[in-house]
Amino acid sequence: MNKNLSGRELQDEVTPFSLYANRRRFMKGIGAAGTLAASAAAYRWFNPVRKMELDTAAIDDLASVELTNEQRLERGFLVDEAMTSESNIISYNNFYEFSTDKNAVAEAAKNFDTKGWQIRVEGMVHKPRTFTIPDLKSVGPIEERIYRMRCVEAWSMVIPWAGLQLSHLIDAVEPMAEAKYVAFETLYDPVRMPGQKSSVLEWPYVEGLRLDEAMHPLTLLAVGLYGKELPAQDGAPVRLVTPWKYGFKGIKSIVKITLVSDEPPTSWKRFAPSEYGFLANVNPNVPHPRWSQATEQRIGENGRRKTLMYNGYEAQVASLYEGLDLSVNF
Ligand code: MTE
Repeated sequence: MNKNLSGRELQDEVTPFSLYANRRRFMKGIGAAGTLAASAAAYRWFNPVRKMELDTAAIDDLASVELTNEQRLERGFLVDEAMTSESNIISYNNFYEFSTDKNAVAEAAKNFDTKGWQIRVEGMVHKPRTFTIPDLKSVGPIEERIYRMRCVEAWSMVIPWAGLQLSHLIDAVEPMAEAKYVAFETLYDPVRMPGQKSSVLEWPYVEGLRLDEAMHPLTLLAVGLYGKELPAQDGAPVRLVTPWKYGFKGIKSIVKITLVSDEPPTSWKRFAPSEYGFLANVNPNVPHPRWSQATEQRIGENGRRKTLMYNGYEAQVASLYEGLDLSVNF
């Protein structure tokens, strides 16, 4: 992976969390007042997927999972840190199907058409099923989650996602007892994803999780970002988010999810197994063979900050890895 930063990320300002939270509270207050115009405004703000086919129930879904900010912080659903600006999140991307230049992905992906998208969920499940994007909300609420994102290249962001907790989707297809892992696959279509004409990676991009990781409440299938539908460059229409793992686990534009018994292949491990492990948990104590993972560049900030164990989600996920030698299982 190219680990050079462009310098452009340092120029954009960050959105303070408090400002965003206040804006949310404000809009929610207006919604409760119930006038037509006011609810429309609240709806626009709250419905994280407003431009998608998903529209009508999203606001109810959010209301049904309303937790206090303290509860959200405790579960890791929210971080009390400044969010990275939307402009940085949507202009500094890794998505090799479109470009290997982070600053060129957004332009290269701008016409990516995701109409009629389907996700096939199959393998060791009792009820294999094909989901459209609107179907996703039938298995669980679309929730807002504000997560840290730490790329293996040592840059990081704080991103407000909207999405479905993956456990709800997996529950819906009823895993068999033999299922131990979940494999994910990106669309393979070199016409729509011209980067797939190059051999920089083996295509399609594939990723995987252990089943217990996939069922963890932090694991999200994101369909929205910053209160809008997911932009193409961030993995439209649906991508994986596992905030305690390096960003490359966050496979974009998913078309297939397969429950399997053995560890599935993953794109970066296949590319360089000594550099990119299957677990890929953020760990400041285990350096990448070519650079330290002790610190990171938060996009939009000056200077570097210390990288946190499990990217700050130790309280939520450390028990998944008890007894593992993390320098071997990286
Ligand atoms: N998914 C696909 N299909 N192709 C990719 O090249 N890049 C990964 C991950 N998911 C990638 C992908 C990497 S290396 C990172 S760091 C994140 O996406 C970046 O997500 P972002 O561009 O939304 O910040």
